[in-house]
Amino acid sequence: MRIEASGLEDVVAATTRLSDVDGERGKLVIAGRPVEDLAGKTSFEDALSLLFQSSTSEADVRDALGEAREAAFERIADLGDALALPDGMDALRASVAHLSTASSEDHAPFAECLRVVGAVAVFAAAWARQGAPVRPDLGRSLAADYLRMATGRSPTDAAVAALDAYLVTVMDHGMNASTFAARVVASTASDTVSAVVAGIGALKGKLHGGAPGPVLDMLDAVGEPDGAGPWIARALSRGERIMGMGHRIYRVRDPRAFVLERAVSVLERAEGDASPIGRRLRLARAVEAEAEAQLAARHPDRPLKANVEFYTAILLEAVGLPRTLFTPTFAVARAAGWCAHVDEQRRFGRLIRPRSIYAA
Ligand code: COA
Repeated sequence: MRIEASGLEDVVAATTRLSDVDGERGKLVIAGRPVEDLAGKTSFEDALSLLFQSSTSEADVRDALGEAREAAFERIADLGDALALPDGMDALRASVAHLSTASSEDHAPFAECLRVVGAVAVFAAAWARQGAPVRPDLGRSLAADYLRMATGRSPTDAAVAALDAYLVTVMDHGMNASTFAARVVASTASDTVSAVVAGIGALKGKLHGGAPGPVLDMLDAVGEPDGAGPWIARALSRGERIMGMGHRIYRVRDPRAFVLERAVSVLERAEGDASPIGRRLRLARAVEAEAEAQLAARHPDRPLKANVEFYTAILLEAVGLPRTLFTPTFAVARAAGWCAHVDEQRRFGRLIRPRSIYAA
């Protein structure tokens, strides 16, 4: 037996009703709805219910997430140095690992998901506050309270709407690396918290969820739209990868880039095109166009276009989050997908155990 593709391309590892990624046509369906119909139109709370096929009302999901945030906040004092770790994903991995695993067995899957998502939001925000965590406000939506806890300021409605659209956009995405990691753990009959910790570890890498911070570093280095062409050319000639470009599955522009660019455009209209958001968006579009053209010239047979991380960077900066918090914020949303996949794997899956070829 020979392995042609060591990245398991085209290997089917599960059947899922949670999301469908059509890489050739650039279509993403989450919980039965096209992502462009869901994000910006359905709250994160309602999208969570859809993911779990639950009839729980938006208000009840909001309350349950509020209780989960409160419970997680009360645990911060017991986390030791976990939230003092310099990297936000390391801090998240260590703090989520403190959550009780006993309740994984005791709680219904949707309740368990809300408990974990609320906790991830609190721990990520608390890490950003560097030892001065902001107590949750239980009456707010998850997006509103996360922004408030992470920045220490009451967010604008426009910023809350943009973040809410982001959370819905990235909550699930087929058999991506972190979801696969979570499902492998769940397939051994382990607990939800352990599966989520595995997901956090996989999401940290810059080939998966770690790209948006470097996207902003790139935009800062490019400086002005006119500088995009020479900067991209130099980076590619040094053999570097352009962050936020390319995807394992998509052969066209990632549909999530479109949805997130649309959400940023709404913010831009509210603030004006001479605002920092307007200037950032113009620069981003110039860099995207240059990167796409130069990558097409170098790889005529392999379309490499903007992925979700490109406009994630612009959106999360625009709502006021520091770039060190971008990947932890991704984890807040994706924790929902991990939990839903854990539930699916438990109900329908078998132990995931591939083979290797011994080549000593
Ligand atoms: N910039 C420059 N070249 C890129 C590239 C990028 N962003 N993405 C892929 N390529 C090139 C590779 O160097 C490779 O070239 P080669 O055949 O001459 O060696 C070719 O395209 C195929 O790349 P490969 O690594 O096989 O693709 P993959 O499916 O394994 O990788 C990604 C997918 C996402 C890991 C990859 O596109 C990448 O590293 N992107 C940048 C990081 C990023 O944005 N991550 C977030 C993903 S949502």
